[in-house]
Amino acid sequence: MTKKPYYITTPIYYPSSNLHIGHTYCTVMADAMARFKRLEGYDVRFLTGTDEHGQKIQKLADAKGVTPQAYVDEVVDGIKKLWATMEISYDDFIRTTEDRHVRRVQEIFKKMYAKGDIYKGEYEGLYCTPCEAFWTETQAVDGKCPDCGRPVEKAKEEAYFFKLSKYQDRLIDLFENNPEFLQPESRRNEMLAFVKQGLDDLCISRTSFDWGVPVPGDEKHVIYVWLDALSNYATALGYPEKMDDLYAKYWPADVHLVGKEIVRFHTVIWPAMLMSLDAPLPKQVLGHGWILLEGGKMSKSRGNCVDPVKLIDRYGVDALKYFLLREYTFGQDGVFTNEVMLNRMNYDLANDLGNLVSRTVSMIEKYDGGIVPAAGTDEGTDAELKAICTGAAEKVSAYMDKFSFSQALEEIWVAIRRTNKYIDETMPWALAKDPEKKDRLDTVMHNLAEALRIVSILIYPFMHSTSEKMREQLGIADQEIRWEDTFVFDVLNGNTVKKGDAIFPRMDVEKELAALEEMQKAQMEEAAKMAAAAEGGAAEEAKEEGEAEGDAPEIPYKDFIEFDDFEKIDFRVGKILSAEKHPKADKLLVFQVKIGKDTRQIISGVAEHFKPEDCVGKKVLVVANLKPRKLRGLESHGMLMFADNGDRMEFMTTIARDGEVVC
Ligand code: MSP
Repeated sequence: MTKKPYYITTPIYYPSSNLHIGHTYCTVMADAMARFKRLEGYDVRFLTGTDEHGQKIQKLADAKGVTPQAYVDEVVDGIKKLWATMEISYDDFIRTTEDRHVRRVQEIFKKMYAKGDIYKGEYEGLYCTPCEAFWTETQAVDGKCPDCGRPVEKAKEEAYFFKLSKYQDRLIDLFENNPEFLQPESRRNEMLAFVKQGLDDLCISRTSFDWGVPVPGDEKHVIYVWLDALSNYATALGYPEKMDDLYAKYWPADVHLVGKEIVRFHTVIWPAMLMSLDAPLPKQVLGHGWILLEGGKMSKSRGNCVDPVKLIDRYGVDALKYFLLREYTFGQDGVFTNEVMLNRMNYDLANDLGNLVSRTVSMIEKYDGGIVPAAGTDEGTDAELKAICTGAAEKVSAYMDKFSFSQALEEIWVAIRRTNKYIDETMPWALAKDPEKKDRLDTVMHNLAEALRIVSILIYPFMHSTSEKMREQLGIADQEIRWEDTFVFDVLNGNTVKKGDAIFPRMDVEKELAALEEMQKAQMEEAAKMAAAAEGGAAEEAKEEGEAEGDAPEIPYKDFIEFDDFEKIDFRVGKILSAEKHPKADKLLVFQVKIGKDTRQIISGVAEHFKPEDCVGKKVLVVANLKPRKLRGLESHGMLMFADNGDRMEFMTTIARDGEVVC
């Protein structure tokens, strides 16, 4: 029987610098889905890669005194190593500088041109002559070049345009009549509203730099980096050169997984390009949320990016993957803290799963000489345990169909926790004392081994190395992992188990927290030194990041909330009576805030933005009804609101331009 194809993609990453934990989030999700689908019997193609052209890369290479190609080669090498370390099971890695891609993008351009959808016109913008750069109204704040600060002036240049406006109605139709095309729902509404506002034609060529794919036949122009990048999903399958092999098999893609700020490119520009090419549209685009820090976005210039490699070195790949997939709800933003990560790893992995494996295998070795016994008659909660374990796969599949990784894992943990409870209920150590109860003891040992075997299959898509370690201890490492084997409960009779190392050793959270903070401090000091040495280079980079991401807001918007949700927030104005550093955390400040007659302690992660003494006497907006919470040992009764101007926090009264309110 031929397997059903399944094509899943991640965005192609900018190789401007090493990737941080936020970037790995999407790839880890795509990897789990690819492995899951393979286990379900699909013929999976999983594509990732790098988006290597554009002005930003060219400038970074210039600053480093190397060619753009040499620059990206080095970073891409690091990205590939990261994916190897993280055991990402991609089938193809496309680089936009590869010949196969460049050639095919040019073909795509020609096809769209031949269709009459590309025309030559004039691009009008704000031009900075010394920098030879065009800026939009928003980028050129106060009419100044954001690069050099000199005045910009209105100018025109010759450019190619794509008739995006021509596809407006078909796009509206797509969003309205095909709700599955873009999920979550909130993003679909957002995009529909955006398209309904009216689409302008899109400028798709640049002449101000040359690090890109030349426009065929007019080589002083390079093709707009997003047109180039989006094409990767099809060029990697051979489109439009060779359409009878991979393209015929895998296109249209089943799903493009993308971050929320690039949903617009994937659900407006990309479908319109495909419409112009008369090619089928991807079946689905899923926009995931962002992993943020307590203080907002991760930023290389602030040196607060969480480095996945450092976490993997300390805790292992599977622990990190588990944390990313379990902690964050698909589609929503989530906050990363060391504490949350360590607690997840300790409770779920060391306590629940690790313990279960080591207790079970030790007991089978002790009571049955390591041989899994056959089961006798069901008693007590045996039937319930079996039902939960053999019924888990179906629930996991249902959640995976919705990309609800967190809930899928929670279902597996329901089975794990139930199995741990089964040990407490059946008390094998007590049964072992009475030779008359040997049959019962054997049944319990059998059931435990079977539960573990099922768990080893269920976790495979998310943590395949851990699954393999478990199967080694269960003596079934050489057996094929098959999803359908989760529905049965009597596979292991007569197997020999063998205790191995703890699969997730327990950690001392306080000690680990201190070590991680120390590492982060060193990283931030290093970033500060580099920024100083680069004389503002970091600031330039941060700004360009925004530009390279298209017109995406510098600070990504969070999901819509209902008015009712908003109304629940009790905002008050408070006055800061005192502020001091938290004795146990460098990033936190402890404030005493007077609200009316009430004085309360509020802790906020803004130590890197304010000196305590500068805060005293300031008025501040307070969320007064936030549930009290302990932060590194001290109670916080509410939340202070500051404004993030993208670079640092400020008191809201001092903010004069757009910014996101953060805590
Ligand atoms: N090169 C474009 C994508 C082109 S796809 C045809 C790009 N690259 S990127 O490197 O800036 O971002 C790649 C992905 O990483 C995006 O989907 C983005 O949302 C994601 N993330 C970057 N930081 C992130 C977090 N902090 N959290 C989660 N994902 C985030 O955009």
